[in-house]
Amino acid sequence: MEKETAVPESPAQVAAEIPPVPHPTDEAAVEAVVAAALAAFENATDLDELKTARLAHLGDKAPITLANRGIGKLENKDKATAGKLLGGAKGRINKALAARTEVLEAERAARRLREETVDVTAQPRRTVLGARHPLSLLQERVADVFVGMGWEIAEGPEVESEWYNFDALNFDQDHPAREMQDTFFVDPPSQHLVLRTHTSPVQVRSMLDREVPIYVLCPGRTFRTDELDATHTPVFHQFEGLAVDKGLTMADLKGTLEHFARQMFGVEAKIRLRPSYFPFTEPSAELDIWHPNAKGGPQWIEWGGCGMVHPNVLRSGGIDPDVYSGFAFGMGVERTLMFRNMVPDMHDMIEGDIRFSQHFGMEI
Ligand code: PHE
Repeated sequence: MEKETAVPESPAQVAAEIPPVPHPTDEAAVEAVVAAALAAFENATDLDELKTARLAHLGDKAPITLANRGIGKLENKDKATAGKLLGGAKGRINKALAARTEVLEAERAARRLREETVDVTAQPRRTVLGARHPLSLLQERVADVFVGMGWEIAEGPEVESEWYNFDALNFDQDHPAREMQDTFFVDPPSQHLVLRTHTSPVQVRSMLDREVPIYVLCPGRTFRTDELDATHTPVFHQFEGLAVDKGLTMADLKGTLEHFARQMFGVEAKIRLRPSYFPFTEPSAELDIWHPNAKGGPQWIEWGGCGMVHPNVLRSGGIDPDVYSGFAFGMGVERTLMFRNMVPDMHDMIEGDIRFSQHFGMEI
């Protein structure tokens, strides 16, 4: 449907409605001039039209103006009559203009209020913000704790040679971990490549890459042929710590882990080491953390493995075990997130539903 719009009056039309210049004493003619002006003002529907009407009826060339100028030429006896007549007429025209101006200004204000109204109750259009994944945030937080102690961050490849993943870490040729179904081997077998089953191969890479003393944290993705369920996923993350220096002992390992546990879980956090076995550490220990707010009540929770770097591993890394000693530890990031933030089901961590990530905010 077409919108109806008022056809604006052309200047010619406006001019046509302007009466002739009256004789300054001709009452009827002056009255016609006033009437024409009042009608023009009344017909003006907005302030622009009113301005056009004002120029036509009160401007330099308006009949009333020109009539006024004629007073000078009148005989003295007529001057007073004419002055009074035209003065009164002009006064009425001005008054009508002022009244109409007020009305049209009020209308304009009302129209603006209507047209420019902001509906503060309307639903705003929001930009959907993403959220960083809690696993990334947790890894960063762990890295921050160690960087704060002057450690460096080291990384290694996810497709790793069997030598770094097993041999260099003192796994026997026939160690069950190699053959157990839990390693992804990469075809062809002659290349001896695996998807790294832990971040420990970065230990050896760091020793070969760096000069002692070495203090590195190695966060990264790891792979095992586990079925996905509430507590397992074939792709997961670990962070590995390695320190190699002169005179390092189990006490340094314990002190480092204690500090780390407090940074992550608060000043009341406690750790405990239980004897264990890993081919690449001797002695080896299982690391437990005291979790006062665990779901089933306060309890010790298995957190990871650790120990003193095995002399054979130092040798693989080109370091003399008679001069240097080292300690190492490794923890799962998913597992840490599970008990630190009470995430009961691993599925939530890997499904990529943004609502899960958003719930952690920017800090965890
Ligand atoms: N790599 C071991 C694991 O995946 C953890 C570990 C790291 C143990 C370093 C001892 C020293 O379980």
